[in-house]
Amino acid sequence: MTGFRDVGQALFPGIPPPPGAAAVVSDLIRNMAVDPESIHGISHWERVAWFGAYICRREQANGLVAAWFACFHDCRRLNDGSDRGHGPRAADFLKLFSPGDLGLTRAEKETLAFACRHHTHERVTEDPTVWACWDADRLDLPRIGVAVDPSRLFTESARRVVRSPEMLSPDIAGSAPGGGGKRKPQPV
Ligand SMILES: [Fe+2]
Ligand SMILES: [Fe+2]
Repeated sequence: MTGFRDVGQALFPGIPPPPGAAAVVSDLIRNMAVDPESIHGISHWERVAWFGAYICRREQANGLVAAWFACFHDCRRLNDGSDRGHGPRAADFLKLFSPGDLGLTRAEKETLAFACRHHTHERVTEDPTVWACWDADRLDLPRIGVAVDPSRLFTESARRVVRSPEMLSPDIAGSAPGGGGKRKPQPV
């Protein structure tokens, strides 16, 4: 069974995990309906976290919210198909956790819930942290053979990643597409 000790560092790249992170992440993994090794499983979370950390650093967005987005946004999927309800389910599941459980303020947790709820049906927002979350998720489309369309991205930092093939395939825990043995770019 994959546990926080195996994935914790990669889920909070360059960010000290909040004190309650181990318990929360273990809970998410334990309650997943899809295989943790599926296309929406832990290695996807890790790459979304990596891209999110990179974007947040450059866009002055909230890196801890983006890290939690990586963990939560797909955690309530019922399958690896389109499952259009999984964003709202993730936001609803988030209600079971207090802001303190996640080391977030109430406002930060609301931002996280918005990003999770609407990541499948993007809403208009001017919040750079939400942009970072959604761009980070989109940058991992190549894992399923889909090229990233720069016109669908919100941030210049994400478009910069698309222009750099090495950055688009970070080797995180040896599981990234095209990863094996490549030097790992740093997220910050
Ligand atoms: Fe999703
Ligand atoms: Fe995702």
